[in-house]
Parts: sequence; C-alpha cells; structure tokens
Amino acid sequence: MNKAESFPITRRSRASLAPGPKGSAILGVMSEFTRDTLGFIERCRNYGDVVSMRFLYLTTYFLYHPDDIENVISTNSKNFIKSRNQRSPLFQRLVGNGLLTSEGEVWKQQRRLTQPAFHRHRINAYAETMADYAQRMISTWREGEVRDIHRDMIRLTLEIVVKTLFNSDVSSDADTVGRVLSRIVTPFAGQATIKWILDNRLPTKTHRLFNQDAREMDKIVYRIIDERRRSGQDEGDLLSMLLKAHDEDGSQMNDKQLRDEVMTIFLAGHETTALTLSWTWYLLAQNRDVEKKFHAELAEVLGGRLPTMEDLSRLPYTEMIAKESMRLYPPAYALGREAVKECEIGGFRVPAGAQVFMFQWATQRDPRFFVQPDKFYPERWTPEFSNSLAKYAYFPFGGGPRACIGNYFAMMEIVLVLATIGQTFGFSLLPDHPVSLLPAMSLRPADGITVKLNSR
Ligand code: HEM
Repeated sequence: MNKAESFPITRRSRASLAPGPKGSAILGVMSEFTRDTLGFIERCRNYGDVVSMRFLYLTTYFLYHPDDIENVISTNSKNFIKSRNQRSPLFQRLVGNGLLTSEGEVWKQQRRLTQPAFHRHRINAYAETMADYAQRMISTWREGEVRDIHRDMIRLTLEIVVKTLFNSDVSSDADTVGRVLSRIVTPFAGQATIKWILDNRLPTKTHRLFNQDAREMDKIVYRIIDERRRSGQDEGDLLSMLLKAHDEDGSQMNDKQLRDEVMTIFLAGHETTALTLSWTWYLLAQNRDVEKKFHAELAEVLGGRLPTMEDLSRLPYTEMIAKESMRLYPPAYALGREAVKECEIGGFRVPAGAQVFMFQWATQRDPRFFVQPDKFYPERWTPEFSNSLAKYAYFPFGGGPRACIGNYFAMMEIVLVLATIGQTFGFSLLPDHPVSLLPAMSLRPADGITVKLNSR
C-alpha cells in the first residue's frame, strides 16, 4: 500500500505520540532551534521520520519522509492551514491577507483571479524581458570587478517581476527595496518562525525599524497601483486583472486587499528566484567541471546571442544545474502547516492545533533518496532519475493546492538569466569574503556573495 494512503484522518486516534527532543521545561526546544536552526533540523532526523517537540506551549512536528509530506500538503491538505508563524501579526503586516497567507474561500477566489497571469502562453511572452534585463544589467560590468552578486540578482529579479506582471519600472527603487528587504527579514532569522509568535507585539527597536521598513515598501507598492489607476490603461497584465476585480466588486477586493496581493507577488516573486540564481553562481564558482560543461552548452546552443523561449528545451544541462542548486540550497527551505483536526501521520497521533513543519533543506539531502546527497551533481537529474524519485523527496516549489503559482515563471527566468549572464561572465569567490547561511524567511547568504568577475 502507498504510505500516504495509510494515514487516514481519524476522529479519535489511539496512535502514540512521536518521539523527539524534550528541551527545557519552559521554552521546550526554542533555544536549540534558535541557536542553530539548520543543524537542529538535521539532528532531529535521528529520532525518525516523524518527530514531536514543544516550542513553548506549541506542540510541533517535524516530518522528514516524502510520503508524510505528501499526506499533509496534498492528500489531506484540507485538514491543514498555514502554520502560526505565517499568521503572525509581523508577517501579516508585510504581506497581509494576500495569496500566500489567505485561507478557504478567500484564497480560492484569489488563486482563480491570479492564475491567468501565470498561464504558460502568457509567461512565454515574458522571456524577452527576462533576457533583455539581464543583458542590460551586465552591460556595465567589467572584468576583474568585485561585486555582491546576490545584491545584483535581487535587483534584477525585482525589476523583471515588476515589469512583466505590473508593467512598471522600479529601477530607481530597486536598491531601496533590496536594502529594506534584507533588513526586514532580519527579525525572522534564527528565531525564524516561532519566537515571533510571542513577542511580535513588543515595542522593541527591531519592531520599530521593521514597521518603518514596511511603510517604505508600502509607498512603492501604492505608487505602482496609483500610476496604473491614473493611466486608466488596461495593460492585460496581472495588475490590470487585480484592478478590474477591485473596481467591479469593491466588496471583494478593497484597497488594502489590492495592496496585499501586489505586495505578495512583489515579495514572493523575486527574492526566491534571486536566491536560486545567487546560490547557483556560488556553486558554479566551486565546481569548475560543471561550469565548463555549462559554458559548452551555451556556446553550442546560443553562440553568443541572447536566449529566447524556444531555446529553453535546448538547454537541458542549464536546467539540471538550476534543479540541483535548488536541491542543495532551497530558497524556501521549510513549509509550515497547522492541523485543523486531530489526525495520524506516519502512524503517530497529531493533535488539532499542532504545528507541522517539513523541510526541503533536510529531505532534499536525505541519502535514502539522493546518492552522495551533499555533492553538487547536476548529472543526477536524468529523466529516469526524476521519474523514479519519490514525489515529495524534492519539492522546492511545495505541492498540492498551495503549490507555488510562479513555478514555471521562475524556472524560465532562472534558465534565461543563467544563460544570458553565463555567456559573458564567470565568477570567482574571494577567500576574505566567506559565505554563510542565514535561514530567515528564506535561505539567504548572511552577508551577500562577493565575487570577482571573469570575462569569458
Ligand atoms: C525559485 C523561485 C521560487 C521558489 C523556490 C518558490 C517557492 C514557493 C513555495 C515552496 C511555495 C509554497 C508555500 C507553502 O506551501 O506554504 C510558494 C508559493 C507561492 N509562490 Fe513561489 N517560489 C518561487 C518563485 C515564485 C514566483 C516567481 C512567484 C510569482 C511571480 C511566486 C509566487 C508565489 C505565490 C503567490 C505563492 C502562494 C500560492 C498559494 O498559496 O496559492 N513564487 N512558492
């Protein structure tokens, strides 16, 4: 029997509680988690595939097996809502009740409304902007120059998402957004998710700064909305679709809701993609054999011209590199849910209200599913391997009804940007700029990724 089928939601389960670390009497495992988030996630795997623990008063489960992950985010997704941390006032302040955080009927309606902007035929039209913007960015770069490549990728992906989905230009705001964004996620780092459930109402300095930054982001988002309103143009893009829904039925989407949707796409639509690009350059700089094959594919297929949508299927190795990079450094390194009713997962009882976390970071490096799991090895992604892999052993874009709406958009952007930049520049890491991980809302480099540019 398929493992996922064997976990019915039961009314009153007699299954036992899962094993797990006890932590301290009051805090539970909070301190250990805060001190070393990724290490703690890895160590907990030693208890089994389903691990229970307590963060203060919150019963929490970590899941490591693809079948259990499938159970929660797909098969029995109706029994789960987003986890507490995503409903915290802090997160709400940032993205409000947009597509990422809403639930039930509101979410369904938002998803229906937003989906057309992400249909393949529409997204294909964005290819040119993606390659053009990448080319425009590197036109000022010079051989030997030292740059923070992550900052560049944030800027580029922000400009692309705003141009393609909102037909607006943020080049003058891009640096502000990058700066604000890196500050804004700081409170989510380390204590990541759970500590903020408790103290996010306190008037600390960090909170004051956070609110200040959030106001700055609001200004940019409202400016984009206002510009379109004033122009009165129906550009046929996502912003026009949202505005139409707003104007036709103000009761369904008021100004605040409109702002939340735009902010959600604005944030969800660029930082994750930028991170994949940044981590890919970082990995290529350390794996010259892979880089060589990458350059050979670009030379053979493109021969120096800009890549187009039609080239995507001719760049299989570039796509394998992107997939492998997202396996090792998944920008969304954790998914969180809350059980609505008591249920059973992996034979263990999970009470109503329990927080359930699943980690791309851990499962995508599990030796049961990936040979030499810590090795950057794009060649592993043959069609045969992909088809034989357990469905949720690799889930950088999540899955089930709440799967990433921008999956195809992101993959296309990643391959086109890698191909455009990779034809002109390679990167070397600098020994005096070590790169370290910051597991905040997403998996970021703590102090950027400083590289030296090498012309090709
Ligand atoms: C490499 C790039 C990306 C990664 C790794 C990524 C990852 C994810 C993941 C894991 C989820 C599911 C969250 C959950 O189940 O709790 C998600 C949802 C979402 N993503 Fe992405 N994403 C990426 C790019 C994008 C882009 C380009 C857009 C839009 C332009 C986007 C918009 C969204 C939205 C709106 C949701 C919420 C969907 C819903 O709940 O219906 N993402 N993303």
